[in-house]
Amino acid sequence: TLGSDVDFVLFGALGDLSQRKLYPALYQLDRENLLADNTRLLGVARQEVDVEGFRSRVEASLKEYIKRDELDAEVVERFLNRLDYRCVDATQVEGYAGIREWRQGAGDRPMVVYLAVGASLYGDICRHLEDSGSLDESARVVVEKPIGHDLESSDEINDAIGAVFPESRIYRIDHYLGKETVQNLIALRFANPLFGTQWNQNHISHVEITVAEKVGIEGRWGYFDQAGQLRDMVQNHLLQLVCLIAMDPPANLDADAIRDEKVKVLKALKPFTDDMLGTDVVRGQYIAGTSDGQSVPGYLEEPDANTASHTETFVAMKTEVSNWRWAGVPFYLRTGKRMPEKLSQIVIHFRQQPHYIFDPDQRSLAANKLVIRLQPDEGIALQVLTKDSGLDKGMRLRPGPLHLDFNNAFAKTRIPDAYERLLLEVMKGQQYLFVRRDEVEHAWKWCDSLIEAWQERDEPPRRYPSGSWGPVASIAMISQDGRSWYEDY
Ligand code: BG6
Repeated sequence: TLGSDVDFVLFGALGDLSQRKLYPALYQLDRENLLADNTRLLGVARQEVDVEGFRSRVEASLKEYIKRDELDAEVVERFLNRLDYRCVDATQVEGYAGIREWRQGAGDRPMVVYLAVGASLYGDICRHLEDSGSLDESARVVVEKPIGHDLESSDEINDAIGAVFPESRIYRIDHYLGKETVQNLIALRFANPLFGTQWNQNHISHVEITVAEKVGIEGRWGYFDQAGQLRDMVQNHLLQLVCLIAMDPPANLDADAIRDEKVKVLKALKPFTDDMLGTDVVRGQYIAGTSDGQSVPGYLEEPDANTASHTETFVAMKTEVSNWRWAGVPFYLRTGKRMPEKLSQIVIHFRQQPHYIFDPDQRSLAANKLVIRLQPDEGIALQVLTKDSGLDKGMRLRPGPLHLDFNNAFAKTRIPDAYERLLLEVMKGQQYLFVRRDEVEHAWKWCDSLIEAWQERDEPPRRYPSGSWGPVASIAMISQDGRSWYEDY
């Protein structure tokens, strides 16, 4: 095994995130021999179950979420044997004695507290952990998004966590940072001189980021309706992608060197003003339509829906990073639920040739595009122009990709889930894939400028049928600049 022993304490141990993501990820680490022999996990939740009951719940999640040929009975047994359980009401300090007891005799084995619960509980849990004497100098805390719903509420939550844990031991998850292809952005940009020299407003005309989801809100009305797509996806995942594309090279790969550069990008994002709403932003909400050939209900017909909600399930926007490198280069972002397919992709559009000598009809083709596909089918394609073959073609141009498909190129290596990478980094005590407090703050500040402008206008979102690429206004938004969303799907 590569790692050293760690004690996990997992709050929300019977919740959705733990079952869908955390147990499968830890199991995969175990299977890859990345969990040290005595690494243990204490599940904590309010329900009364005994250890055997807890282990069989976890076993059921593994059977549901791990591919059959990756389920190894011996590893499953080893993994389940690492688990223990305590029933604790997180809001009452009394129950925490059970956690302290479990930790006794742990020696210098570091403790990782994972809060897979709503952010409204973060403050209580941190305080009670401290007051009950369950923590020591080694303890790290892992928290999930969303941290608040605006700058003010996120400050409160971050203050409450920060009253117990120093920033160097706080791991704020944005699971997009754990995705293999997202990390590849750093390698692609900073290991290849070819791109390094071209990566600025002299050579790039615009950048597109699409994060489309096929799913709707999946029974999460209560949470989602308070949040909306801007807070749920843009404030965190899309802005993190913007940071990784736009940041200057860090001096090294240290967490703070990287995060310092990301913060500079967030600070340089152009704030929204009311007059930009009509031209640069589109809010949408899905109505009934189809998904994979099946009829699906509209947002306002989802279970528990409030039929007058103006919450957006789609947002498209044009923004800019106002600095030396990027001034004048639009960043077009769009993300939505109930799109025709799940697709996350970044397209870097390079500028056209300054002097063009081929067929005038093909003028618009004469630029390169770098397409970075995050999911599915992770890969990188550079669109280049070559001569079309055939005696009758003269000097006709043909665009085609120089293509790196990660599944084929690295066929023998499984592409790990984001949570595997993130859990591994927490165990190693490395923070570069986690979000620092000032990143969260600047991301909120920018989103708040948009939310305030929306609130002043109080317009309903535009409707789009489930199974479409969002309101037509999103196409109009980009075509007013003489451009279109990249289509390769
Ligand atoms: C989560 C959002 O952070 O990311 C969800 O809360 C969204 O609404 C999910 O569906 C998307 O993640 P992924 O990894 O499937 O792209």
